Amino acid sequence: MEYSDVFHRENEGSDMVTKETYNFKDKGDRNLTLRPEGTAGVIRSFIENKLYAQNDLTKLFYIGPNFRYERPQKGRFRQFMQFGVEALGTNNPYLDAEVLALAYETIRGLGLKGVVVKINSLGNDASKAAYKEALYNYLLPYKDQLSEDSQVRLEKNPLRILDSKVPVDKEITKNAPLPLEYLDEESRNSFETITRLLDQAKIPYALDRKLVRGLDYYSHIVFEIQAEIEGFGSQNALGGGGRYDNLVSELGGPKTPGIGFAFGMERLLNALEIEGRELAPEPSLDAFFVTFDEKSKDLAFNLQNELRVHGFSSDLNYTNKNFKSQLKEALNHRAKFLVIIGENEVNEGVVNLKNTSTEEQIKIRKEELVNKLKELL
Ligand code: HAM
Repeated sequence: MEYSDVFHRENEGSDMVTKETYNFKDKGDRNLTLRPEGTAGVIRSFIENKLYAQNDLTKLFYIGPNFRYERPQKGRFRQFMQFGVEALGTNNPYLDAEVLALAYETIRGLGLKGVVVKINSLGNDASKAAYKEALYNYLLPYKDQLSEDSQVRLEKNPLRILDSKVPVDKEITKNAPLPLEYLDEESRNSFETITRLLDQAKIPYALDRKLVRGLDYYSHIVFEIQAEIEGFGSQNALGGGGRYDNLVSELGGPKTPGIGFAFGMERLLNALEIEGRELAPEPSLDAFFVTFDEKSKDLAFNLQNELRVHGFSSDLNYTNKNFKSQLKEALNHRAKFLVIIGENEVNEGVVNLKNTSTEEQIKIRKEELVNKLKELL
């Protein structure tokens, strides 16, 4: 939850800002919004906590739910999870290439095949403004023919008409001027450096001259990681991002350029499923305690705490299940070791330590458990 003005700023016309958020008043009559994306809130926090004063470069990541009041459809939900990164402090194109490389590595690391990286540049403020004007002048004569949404966008944010999916808009924008044609020298140089670095790093990408993205804080590079997988559906952007050199100052901080991206987790999972990629299994448990009565549970409880203090993961079943059921549970947790404690063990101050893969079992003094696990794991 954020104050609404983090997302709803004056003079802005991006669709998300004007209509796609959940807004309400709290009991103190404050205007609040469920965050529709991560970036603006991260920047709000960056300013509030004066992170800009700590280092020249700040690199952040986040994972969490977001909310957009959109028409739900395949791949588009009103609540969805994103993970993303933001890097702030320089407009050096090396950072752009680094951030893009990280986005690409996310996809490559997951083993997804049918994925393309699309890039484009909107240029610096001057280039973007010149382009906006050219596009507006080009579209104005077609105003009445544009879709209803695009007629509104024409006045507020004509760039968004470029990525409209409505057939009439697509037809009209077929020969529209393109952002790359309006880059000034500085913007062109920056974009060329990025593509050179991507080439050097052997990161495959495709130029998409009409890519403008749905949020309007971007300038310079914008990019999207799209699924080109059969059966994926039309909402095929797995992730997207770009540079935003004015956002920090627009939100009240010192002028600080930044760049970042976010991936939608539901869409990523869908892509993984269609391509038949399995995610790495859940991490396994170091030790699972098998106990038989109150006394053995007491000892197990103490030892479990000790293991956790030393950084081992461990678990213990509190119900009085029989040995077989406890064993089954331990294997479900993929426990590496069983610590088996019965009445005799309690009396003798020992525990049985069983390696679940080799089935080897040893009896050790209870005080030795931590060191023994350190040795074996
Ligand atoms: P975005 O393109 O709006 O960018 O969202 C990023 C990703 O979130 C999308 O590619 C998609 O996978 C997922 N996503 C968005 N809306 C939905 C939805 N309704 N249902 C399911 N998944 C969805 C941003 O949010 C920017 N903050 C990215 C960024 C970070 N730019 C700079 N830094």
